[in-house]
Amino acid sequence: MSKTALFPGSFDPITNGHVDLLGRACDLFEKIIVTVAVNNTKTALFTGDERVEMIQHAIQDKPWASQVVVEQFQGLLIDYARQKDTKILIRGVRQISDFEYEFRMALTNRRLAPEVDTVFLMPDEQLTFISASVVKEIAAWGGDLSSFVPEPVATALRQKFNGNASSST
Ligand code: PNS
Repeated sequence: MSKTALFPGSFDPITNGHVDLLGRACDLFEKIIVTVAVNNTKTALFTGDERVEMIQHAIQDKPWASQVVVEQFQGLLIDYARQKDTKILIRGVRQISDFEYEFRMALTNRRLAPEVDTVFLMPDEQLTFISASVVKEIAAWGGDLSSFVPEPVATALRQKFNGNASSST
């Protein structure tokens, strides 16, 4: 039985949906390594360091915060899982439309590393419509972010869009 699971993603930025999933994952596993992908094909708004810092601030008051470590990774996820000696990847599925992409990714990872399994978790239904891209769009137009992201993330988004909003990784 694996005591440690990876929770990989872009987290650009972390949303309330991610935080909800993380809490659920902490109920199931002793330790969760939030793995922030910094070399995927998506162009990121926040740097890897910024994303890690936002996640740490966003969860610091949670009762399960001590179970979580936040790291950046480059390369293939399964290589990182092997390096961390874990066989479990946690992914969130919000709606049926997520499933095709998630299913393809899980089976690709399984082909590359048969010992690694993906565990799918559903967030609270009130949060299923939230995505990092929607959050960035709201932020770009100065909308109210309070029910979408933790306060430190809302602050970082406001700073990003009030200042230099150019993309970086
Ligand atoms: O939050 P996201 O953008 O949906 O996360 C996707 C992520 C980062 C988990 C995925 O792109 C990934 O694992 N990238 C690392 C490269 C890799 O291992 N690719 C093979 C699996 S498709």
